[in-house]
Amino acid sequence: MAKAKTVYACTECGGASPKWQGQCPHCGAWNTLVESLAAPAPTRFESVAGVRSAVTPLASVTAQESERIPTGLSEFDRVLGGGLVAGGVALLGGDPGIGKSTLLLQASAALGATRKTLYVTGEESVEQVALRAQRLGLVQAPIELLAEVQLEAIVAAISGLAPEVVIVDSIQTVYTEALQSAPGSVAQVRECAAQLTRLAKKSGVVIVFVGHVTKEGALAGPRVLEHIVDTVLYFEGDPHSSFRLVRAIKNRFGAANELGVFAMTERGLRGVTNPSALFLSQHGAPVAGSVVTATLEGSRPLLVEVQALVDPVQGGTPRRLAVGLDPQRLALLLAVLHRHGGVDTGGYDVFVNAVGGVRIGEPAGDLAILLAVESSLKNRPLPEKSIVFGEVGLAGEVRPVQRGQERIREAVKLGFTTVFVPAANRPRQAIDGARVIAVQRVDEALAALREL
Ligand code: TYD
Ligand code: MG
Repeated sequence: MAKAKTVYACTECGGASPKWQGQCPHCGAWNTLVESLAAPAPTRFESVAGVRSAVTPLASVTAQESERIPTGLSEFDRVLGGGLVAGGVALLGGDPGIGKSTLLLQASAALGATRKTLYVTGEESVEQVALRAQRLGLVQAPIELLAEVQLEAIVAAISGLAPEVVIVDSIQTVYTEALQSAPGSVAQVRECAAQLTRLAKKSGVVIVFVGHVTKEGALAGPRVLEHIVDTVLYFEGDPHSSFRLVRAIKNRFGAANELGVFAMTERGLRGVTNPSALFLSQHGAPVAGSVVTATLEGSRPLLVEVQALVDPVQGGTPRRLAVGLDPQRLALLLAVLHRHGGVDTGGYDVFVNAVGGVRIGEPAGDLAILLAVESSLKNRPLPEKSIVFGEVGLAGEVRPVQRGQERIREAVKLGFTTVFVPAANRPRQAIDGARVIAVQRVDEALAALREL
């Protein structure tokens, strides 16, 4: 018998090397190469989809919108871009215990009413799934369960049952006999996901994988899964709060960066239709260091409270801590505040936090962070019902942000009355009941704040 060919695959980037080395030649990571069976020659996505590689003029191709299969959970459908797509493969990643199985069981129950749905559980027994269904009030849901971890058996079950939707919870537990490496290893996860994906493309079944996130925050089996599947969703949330966010990182069938918001209740996940209210903490009166900003999450504006605490250094070097935003960005903003606003925080510890476990990824929150720092430093709250957004440049300019009007509208809708915006985002028409403070520079914003 020919000896099976082995390669050394990097657990960080998935890159393969013919021999073991201390450093991955592809991504430069150290001690990440593990032995695995040589994967079959990489198949391009097109050939997986069964499309012949004939050359076709673009104009002669008739684009067809793929049919959407709504999951019945509107927030989940929003991140998916309207629902699951036949033949599409999605990956739902997240920390253990965040609610992946709960969400997918709820979605299966709703889907099962109209589509044959198979729930493959590799982590829990069917009894455990039934227990969860009982808790969710879904015992009567028309779902087929399969407790199985062997790929060949799962494929056989799918062929036999011919479901329209398959949930695989989780892909890390699935293994194939064809490989000797342990279940959960890079080679196993990659091979099993690739085979199931091929099956989905060939048969038109929808497959949703559950994937665990490693301690470092990467999907285990690492990034190899992300480019195999069509849609990558991440489940995130502060373990101490009941709110859960599902974020689309990649979506071949819809917008990436879309956000779905859920609350974990006693009886499962409930979609939150007005998420802006969530990320604002309830203060009886205005509080120094607290500023509300409007970020854009996918297609919708989201109001988020930024809190800063600026406190004299207790010996040693001043500390800078950012939760829910980039610490480098905070350092940069403090430098701008010093140089262009004349506000020196060198002798202070600066802590900044985005409330509610949300992450502010876009620079539109810059001005809010600056004003929060200034407000805490001077111990002077902003006027009640103020909202601030704008990107801050290194030259001290306040730059416009995209879709400023929508952000302002969302804020006004929620009762905000004072709006700090970049001059270029100033609304063309006055807004009823709102005072707009449009600024071009950081010092202008600080001066306006001091006059209020
Ligand atoms: P689960 O879906 O099992 O998480 P995952 O599959 O991502 O590991 O969710 C587990 C947590 O959710 C657990 O801590 C209990 C909680 N939970 C509720 O609060 N309410 C519910 O109705 C359910 C089913 C779970
Ligand atoms: Mg689970």
